[in-house]
Amino acid sequence: APRPTEITVRADTPGPTYDKAIFTQFAEHLGTGIYGGLWVGEKSKIPNVRGFRSDVVGALKELGVPIVRWPGGCFADEYHWREGVGPRAKRPVKINTHWGGVTEPNTVGTHEFFDLVGQLNAEAYISGNVGNGSPQEMAEWVEYMTAPAGSLAEERARNGRKEPWKLPYFGIGNELWGCGGNMRAEYAADVTRRYATFVKAPAGTRILKIASGANNDDYRWTEVMIRDAAQQIDALSLHYYTVPGGWPPRASASEFDEAGWAQTLAATWRMDEFITKHVAMMDKYDPQKRIWLAVDEWGTWYAPDPGTNPGFLRQQNTLRDAMVAAINLNIFAKHADRVKMTAIAQMVNVLQAMILTDGDRMVKTPTYHVFHMYKPWIDATVLPIELKGGWYNKDQYVMPAVSASAIRGKDGVVRIALANADPNRPNSVTANLSGVQASAVTGTVLTADAITARNDFDAPNRVAPQAFTGASVAGGRLSVTLPAKSVVVLELR
Ligand code: AHR
Repeated sequence: APRPTEITVRADTPGPTYDKAIFTQFAEHLGTGIYGGLWVGEKSKIPNVRGFRSDVVGALKELGVPIVRWPGGCFADEYHWREGVGPRAKRPVKINTHWGGVTEPNTVGTHEFFDLVGQLNAEAYISGNVGNGSPQEMAEWVEYMTAPAGSLAEERARNGRKEPWKLPYFGIGNELWGCGGNMRAEYAADVTRRYATFVKAPAGTRILKIASGANNDDYRWTEVMIRDAAQQIDALSLHYYTVPGGWPPRASASEFDEAGWAQTLAATWRMDEFITKHVAMMDKYDPQKRIWLAVDEWGTWYAPDPGTNPGFLRQQNTLRDAMVAAINLNIFAKHADRVKMTAIAQMVNVLQAMILTDGDRMVKTPTYHVFHMYKPWIDATVLPIELKGGWYNKDQYVMPAVSASAIRGKDGVVRIALANADPNRPNSVTANLSGVQASAVTGTVLTADAITARNDFDAPNRVAPQAFTGASVAGGRLSVTLPAKSVVVLELR
């Protein structure tokens, strides 16, 4: 029998903004995330605009990607920006020591990245090199990108760009506890203070500085950073990957049973617990919530697809990933007063990607479709939501059957997102709506016949949004028959 869920949506007591930066996408020099996935070069037979492939850029534009984080990740802490500017033919070919030991041609550098950001109508979030770079190198990069005058601005102009770029977000290194330098928290806090000091915005502009934050449940890292480096930063990051079965990633991305489904979704629900506890630590030192939390790496991390370079982190994407995306986007709504940015890892061909490419072919993943369905959440107002419902469990993996969030969009329309994790049973959801005068409800559903359903190059629409007709509204009450293993977004008019 369908399980019941009772929801209350309080549209009359609006909450914080669901910041557009929660939809930041991460694009690292890793595998085919940049080369092949985004960049094919001007001379490629694949249609492109100044080297960036038009099919992928077009699909990302449809998502309204607001911000792109680049060039890493671990890559950022060994990236020397000077190697990626000037005539392309003269740029040094380096080794990408972190990701597969392959050559890094430096073809995509600062100018190319900003061209991509411009083509997407997005903004830049650049991570600087704290790991093996100097404060001077970092300061000069920032000056090169943003200064209106001076010798670095002149060099930028000689390289093809007269106007300074906008640099709204800058990361002070990445994972300083690991690939960014294996630092202890106390040392990382001091290093962050030092490097951040020299990241200076030209008059009349602002660069928000994001410090390298904790991994998973490392609350001590958060405590030391916020205690000792708060004055120099605007945000602190948190990285949490959904890794079913634990580290190193070993679960198959595409072949799994119901236990593998439930294990993954239960693991992703831990995001709620981790954010809650990191925020509690931040509240201790920053009760005014001046410093926001940037979950700037999240998503699933499975074993690499068979036959692929293990250093390329290429993995398939199924209905399970769509469910992971929806659960996380709902969790971020709950914490939107402190979580102002998140970045799924990663944009194309790497980990939980929006898009997979193979030569000239591309496919939109189930995760892509969830992001598309949640587009109205961009800069919307979060509406408080209470949810009472049952649990879904398989073996030892237990979680709420339904996850939800509600918003009033910039267009004034109230929308509710619902995700039913139970792959076997529909859920009958009733929602009491306070402060919404709705007489009609329409919706979109993402589901499939199997939990492992995915989109392939020869079957690209196996998992695709469909019109949803299982909801009705009358007298301030919404009734929904939420299909098993589905994500539904409803629109109230
Ligand atoms: O996204 C892949 C890697 O995961 C990033 O480079 C790093 O920051 C994290 O460990």
